[in-house]
Amino acid sequence: MEDVIAHYYFRPDERTTPEEAAQAIAEEETTGTWTALTTRQDYVRRLDGIVESVEKSGRGYLTLIRYPAEIFEPGNIPQYLSVVAGNLFGLGRLEAVRLTDVEFPESLARFNGPNFGTEGVRHLLGTRNRPHVGTIIKPKVGLTPADTAHVAYEAASGGVDFIKDDETLTNQSFCPMNERVEAVMARLDEAKDETGRQVLYAVNVSDRADRIVERAEEALERGANTLMVDVLTCGYAALQALAEEPGISVPIHVHRTMHAAMTRNPEHGIAMRPIARLVRMAGGDQLHTGTVSGKMGHNAEELLLDNRALTDPWYGFRPVFPVASGGLHPGKVHAELATLGTEIVLQAGGGIHGHPDGTAAGARAMRQAVDAFLEGISASEYAKDHVELYRALELWGTS
Ligand code: 3PG
Repeated sequence: MEDVIAHYYFRPDERTTPEEAAQAIAEEETTGTWTALTTRQDYVRRLDGIVESVEKSGRGYLTLIRYPAEIFEPGNIPQYLSVVAGNLFGLGRLEAVRLTDVEFPESLARFNGPNFGTEGVRHLLGTRNRPHVGTIIKPKVGLTPADTAHVAYEAASGGVDFIKDDETLTNQSFCPMNERVEAVMARLDEAKDETGRQVLYAVNVSDRADRIVERAEEALERGANTLMVDVLTCGYAALQALAEEPGISVPIHVHRTMHAAMTRNPEHGIAMRPIARLVRMAGGDQLHTGTVSGKMGHNAEELLLDNRALTDPWYGFRPVFPVASGGLHPGKVHAELATLGTEIVLQAGGGIHGHPDGTAAGARAMRQAVDAFLEGISASEYAKDHVELYRALELWGTS
């Protein structure tokens, strides 16, 4: 494949045939516009978008559009998006249109990709053949650095592998980033002395474009061992800047806050799959892709394919660790692992810090639920001699 193939679902308005609608997308994103152009020289026409197919699907149609590789500036993801996911969403002749997937030729996929990926993260933690358990510090905003660090210590003592800031916590006055990182890393060192276990803490360095690398460096100087970025609010280029910065040699955890504005409507917007591919190219090591039983809307079939976009062999990019997060608790662990497999990070915020006996007990309960699954025992059975799990199931049940 030499060109870019974009997959769209669309529904034309009543004045427009499906073929006209697909052609309108191809022209808008390449050499055409709403009317014939006297300036569309013959030599320009080699850059025309080509409608490869149009077929009926549900209330609308699926189309494949081939965009000549020459239209794209290699390495410039914002520019790639302006073609495959640009003006087309607003075309009045389309009542709905959704980018469902996109295939890039090797010439446009020359990125470093993840520096760590699943194996690299596992290497740092010394784990094999089991899911990682993570937590999001809660409340997501408001805690002081010292209290944030205390919650992190409790979670680490209870057995989590991974701790992260929430998507809305960056460098606010109530919890300045530098102070927070120093406090959390000191308490994680304390936990490590006690348990012998290394825990990763992802510091949210999301910031404006001209400051994000500097912010990441400040976090690293204070001992951060993982970074986090809100990729859709900061942009893929911000993630790429972090991943390609020579001085940054820690994993990057990628949160997808705002994604549902694009992904949720099954007929319009941008599906998670293209987002997953772009995050992998840009260098994310872990990416939130969703759950099969959590608090956000879900579609298990789509989620499995999204996770495969992160992990299937693809131009030599390292596999990215998929992250299941949002409304999980110990009673949901079985359903998640049974569907998603064990090459996954399971994260629980409320499902750990909301445990009736506190954060450490909540972390233990999550780990016990994972152990139960790995041993092929139901959570309810395992809970009979694991009190933390018992107390979690008593509060939240198993669904
Ligand atoms: C996330 O970052 O995915 C959410 O903050 C998850 O929080 P929750 O486990 O409390 O739903």
